[in-house]
Amino acid sequence: MIVNGEPLRPLRAAPERDAVLVIDQRRLPHRLHFERLATPQAVFTAIREMWVRGAPLIGAVAAYGLALQARSDAGDEALRRSAAWLKSARPTAVNLMWALDRMLRDTLNTAVAERVGVAWQAADAIAEEDVRINHAIGQHGLPLVEAVAQRKAGPVNILTHCNAGWLATVDWGTATSPIYQAHAQGIAVHVWVDETRPRNQGASLTAWELAQAGVQHTLIADNAGGHLMQRGQVDLCIVGCDRVTARGDVCNKIGTYLKALAAHDNGVPFYVAMPTPTLDLSLHDGLAEIPIEDRSPREVTHLSGRAADGSLLEVAIAPDGTAAANPAFDVTPARLVKGLITERGLVQAEAGALQALMHPPPR
Ligand code: MRU
Repeated sequence: MIVNGEPLRPLRAAPERDAVLVIDQRRLPHRLHFERLATPQAVFTAIREMWVRGAPLIGAVAAYGLALQARSDAGDEALRRSAAWLKSARPTAVNLMWALDRMLRDTLNTAVAERVGVAWQAADAIAEEDVRINHAIGQHGLPLVEAVAQRKAGPVNILTHCNAGWLATVDWGTATSPIYQAHAQGIAVHVWVDETRPRNQGASLTAWELAQAGVQHTLIADNAGGHLMQRGQVDLCIVGCDRVTARGDVCNKIGTYLKALAAHDNGVPFYVAMPTPTLDLSLHDGLAEIPIEDRSPREVTHLSGRAADGSLLEVAIAPDGTAAANPAFDVTPARLVKGLITERGLVQAEAGALQALMHPPPR
C-alpha cells in the first residue's frame, strides 16, 4: 500500500533483527505512528491491547515475538512456554495459534545455537507468505467484482464489515484485496464501510486505508446495512474471518452474522475472504466450538476519538455504572455464505469442498 506517497506495511522487522515495528492502530486515523516491540512481553501487550489486530497480522507479529524470545533463551522449555503465553493474548483468531505452532516446529527441529537465525527466517517467511496469499485472494475475488461491473451501469457496491484490510495483514488485506485489484484495473468500485461498533475498526481503519488507496467509500452505521440491501444498493458483501471450521462456519467480527442474514434475505451474495491459515479443520460446529473473546465493557460504554483541539480523548456514552457485554466475534453458519475466496481459488463453505481444497486428490 502506498501511504503519503511511500510504500508501507503495517509491520516490518528491524534490520538488526532485534525488534519488530508495527503501526499502533489505536491511534489511527488521527496519527500514523510506529511502535518498536523489542521483547515478547511487548508483543503480547501489542496483540492483547489491539495496537495490532486482524487475524493474519497478529499471527505474523506473534511469530516475531517468538523470534525475540529465541534471542534471550532459545531452549525448548522457554520457546514452548513463550508460545503458549503468546497464544493466550487473543483466543479467537486461529492464525495466532497457526503461526506459533509453525514457529515451534521450525525452531525446535534445529540445534539451539542456530535457533535465533532460524526463528527470524521463519517469521520473515510467515510475513512474506501472508503477502502472497492476500494477493492471490485478490486475484480469485476479482472475477466476482468484474461480473457485477459487466452487468450494471455505475459502480459496484460492496459492503464490508470491520477491517479485513491492508492494516489487518502484512499487505493487501483479505476482503479488500479484490477491491484494490478491481480499482487498479479501472473498475468503478464503491465500498459501504460498516463503522463496526464497539471499537469502530471500520470507521477508523477501513475508511482510512480506502482513502489512502483512492477507493470511493461511504461510512455507515452498523444498523444501516439491511436497509441498503433492501433498496438494492449493495451488490456484494465481502468480509474477512478469524476462524473457519471444517464445515464452513465463519467466525468474524461481531455483527457479521446480522449482515449475512440480511444478505440472505435480500439475495445479496455474501462472500468471505479466507486465507487457508484461518481454516481450522479440527473444529466442525462453529457456534459450539469456536472460543469467542469477551472484551472489556468499557469498549461499549465509552468512545475514543479526536477532539476539536486535535487531542485524542475518550468519552463516556452511557450512565456511570451501566452493565455492558462485549462479545467480540460471532459465527455465521455456512449456509449463509455464498463462497470462500481463498488463495487457492473460490470454494464452497462446505465440508467436502474444504477437505478437497486442503488435501487435493493426487493426479
Ligand atoms: O478484533 P479485530 O479487529 O482483530 O477483528 C478483526 C476481524 O474481525 C477481521 O475481519 C478478521 O480478523 C479478518 S482480518 C483479514
